[in-house]
Amino acid sequence: MARQTTNFICQSCGASHNRWQGKCDACGDWNTLVAEDAGGGAGPAATRSRRKGRAVALESLAGKSLDAPRQRSGVGEIDRVTGGGFVPGSVLLLGGDPGIGKSTLLIQVAAALARAGRRAVYITGEEAVAQVRLRAERLGLSSAPVELAAETSVEDIVATLGEGKTPGLVVIDSIQTMWTDLADSAPGTVTQVRASAQALIRYAKKSGAVLVLVGHVTKDGQIAGPRVVEHMVDAVLSFEGEGSQQFRILRAVKNRFGPTDEIGVFEMTGAGLREVANPSELFLSKRDLGSPGTAVFAGLEGTRPVLVEIQALVAPTALGTPRRAVVGWDASRLAMVLAVLEAHCGVKLSGHDVYLNVAGGLRIAEPAADLAAAAALVSSLAGAPLPAEAVYFGEISLSGAVRPVAQAPARLKEAAKLGFTRAYLPEFAQGEGGARADGGLTLRPVPALIQLVTDIAARGRGRGGEGVRLKRQDG
Ligand code: TYD
Ligand code: MG
Repeated sequence: MARQTTNFICQSCGASHNRWQGKCDACGDWNTLVAEDAGGGAGPAATRSRRKGRAVALESLAGKSLDAPRQRSGVGEIDRVTGGGFVPGSVLLLGGDPGIGKSTLLIQVAAALARAGRRAVYITGEEAVAQVRLRAERLGLSSAPVELAAETSVEDIVATLGEGKTPGLVVIDSIQTMWTDLADSAPGTVTQVRASAQALIRYAKKSGAVLVLVGHVTKDGQIAGPRVVEHMVDAVLSFEGEGSQQFRILRAVKNRFGPTDEIGVFEMTGAGLREVANPSELFLSKRDLGSPGTAVFAGLEGTRPVLVEIQALVAPTALGTPRRAVVGWDASRLAMVLAVLEAHCGVKLSGHDVYLNVAGGLRIAEPAADLAAAAALVSSLAGAPLPAEAVYFGEISLSGAVRPVAQAPARLKEAAKLGFTRAYLPEFAQGEGGARADGGLTLRPVPALIQLVTDIAARGRGRGGEGVRLKRQDG
């Protein structure tokens, strides 16, 4: 009986089916199956030789292990995100929207390493050598001894890399354009991408070179096609930013050698990406002082405190169902804060459209931003500007209480450094570890959200503004 050699592979999750169907059973995506030749893979177990297993030595968890040696990339923000630099022999996948600056970032890293005396190889499968040269010229990197090739055949690339000194860094831009003879299907298909990645990763592990693969991102923000590649690499980095904004944020989604909560901040300038060592200054640089609806949130990204402005606009709605739009924050978190304002603070928002925006294109995931968001919302509704020298942080619980958050002293210190003098924060937050670490700020503990709302409403009335119409349940 002839063995079937054509498989239908889901281009989204890599699952294999033996006939075509409209929907992938594994991931539920529609119309993602593509016929690919299954040839080249290992045959069924029965046809492989029955080798007797060899006993391997088992070890205990305790024991000597060398800390992974690191190779500094020459770009501080990348070192921060990777956890102190590249680990030799490690493979990183860099994902991001088209045009976000992946190629720019990597040519800058390659140039920095090459200038430091390491061999850096940049393989492009998307652009011509002339295009990469043009970019390097624009970035003022033409003199850096980066080795450049426009090539898509994995076998040729591995053979080229094998010549001469082992490279410190190999950039493959992008993995979707690579193909290998080992797989018969067309370039760009999951089978090709997986086989190419496997071959390149094998080279990196064997030689000790650091390999960076660029991966495209689909509309819904996943690295296109090969989610499979994410499992094969040591770290997945994602490069993000709003197209219209100059800020770019590098985030580790997965990292076998370091933390995943650090971010790297860059600014896209006419001369390439510039590192932003102090993001708070950048996010607060063009502040709209004295207008209602903005509050400064003292946040935390990984170990680094980041101050960012949260902007809110609350306006009477013209529609039956009021709009709620959020940029940079979780929509369900906003719904929760609005519900708490309505239920516990007597702030009626059902007749208002609500817009919330995190300035600078930052995306906040921390619940600690609740208090700042609530302050901005109430300030906009009341037409009362918040004090310009104040920062806010605290998590709001469904009961309307303000809960303590982690690392209050670090947030206060950063706020003090940037010239803020007042902090609205959860009760007991400042007493962490018995020591008072307020960084010289005046602390305004907020035990419950209603206190903050009353406070802001009073300011609004004082200015002759519209004021929040508070309906206290208790009369
Ligand atoms: P690129 O690195 O080609 O993006 P990707 O590889 O992620 O697709 O960056 C392209 C964008 O960056 C392009 O829209 C122009 C902009 N850019 C600058 O603003 N300044 C520069 O110095 C460079 C090189 C690019
Ligand atoms: Mg590119």
